[in-house]
Amino acid sequence: MDIVLFAFPGNEDLTAKIAARHKAVVGQATFRHFPDGETYTRIDSDVKHKHVVVVCTMHQPDNKFLLLHFFSKIAREQGCKKITLIAPYLSYMRQDKIFRPGEGLTSSYFAQLISNCVDELITVDPHLHRITSLNMIYSIPCQAKQASDHLAAWISKNIVKPLVIGPDSESEQWVTDVALKAKAHYTVLQKIRTGDKEVEISIPQVERYKNHTPVLVDDIISTGKTMQETIKHLKNAGMPQPICIGIHAVFAPGAYEDLLAAGASRVVTCNTIPHQSNQIDISDLFKIG
Ligand code: R5P
Repeated sequence: MDIVLFAFPGNEDLTAKIAARHKAVVGQATFRHFPDGETYTRIDSDVKHKHVVVVCTMHQPDNKFLLLHFFSKIAREQGCKKITLIAPYLSYMRQDKIFRPGEGLTSSYFAQLISNCVDELITVDPHLHRITSLNMIYSIPCQAKQASDHLAAWISKNIVKPLVIGPDSESEQWVTDVALKAKAHYTVLQKIRTGDKEVEISIPQVERYKNHTPVLVDDIISTGKTMQETIKHLKNAGMPQPICIGIHAVFAPGAYEDLLAAGASRVVTCNTIPHQSNQIDISDLFKIG
């Protein structure tokens, strides 16, 4: 089946890289808003009998979902055979529990919406914590690719004597894997989150690593508070300025600048969400078949 990729707005670079690897065509589509803010979508390329691959990272997902829904409906009406969504960052995965009465399991609601829209999902390091597999909430085939090889390769190439630090138990899965592959020492801290921007991190025991470069590794940097709190402790412990590595550059407004101001010597992310900190290319993770 012929493959045709479509780059949703902002995903053009990654789409071009994936298309080049597959020697596949990038299709043309028109996305814009009417003057009243409503969404206009048009597929300009032929998709009949084709495998349509939509590349759309799901950072700030609410508006993107409607676009994806319209696009998928149009593609199916035009006779496409299959729709794969490449969403390098998959949102809503942290809403994996009802924390307070009256809330909903929005990770699951979002998964149902996506499952009704496309036939297959490929993503990178989704936040699998209390939900341990995408198939627990998605009803379509899902592939969760891992960026740990890429992170480890970047660390090995760029950092002398790294000490990999995970800020919370949820990060342990990435940190242990990355540290092992980068042949680095590691430690995992404990975190208590009391609000969107309020976190407490346990004091790192780093006395014997004073001549190492701390490398904070987490899947998501959002408000950056998790990393900022960890940096504070490292400063108090007399450690060198840390490098902060996040897989997904979610970054709430001002978070990137605040992290640098807090003392990160560098902030490095993968290109799962376009951002000035992207230095690790993960485009080779996506294999379309
Ligand atoms: C949650 O547990 C994630 O793994 C990250 O630690 C978290 O999303 C980071 O959030 P923030 O940057 O807002 O502290």
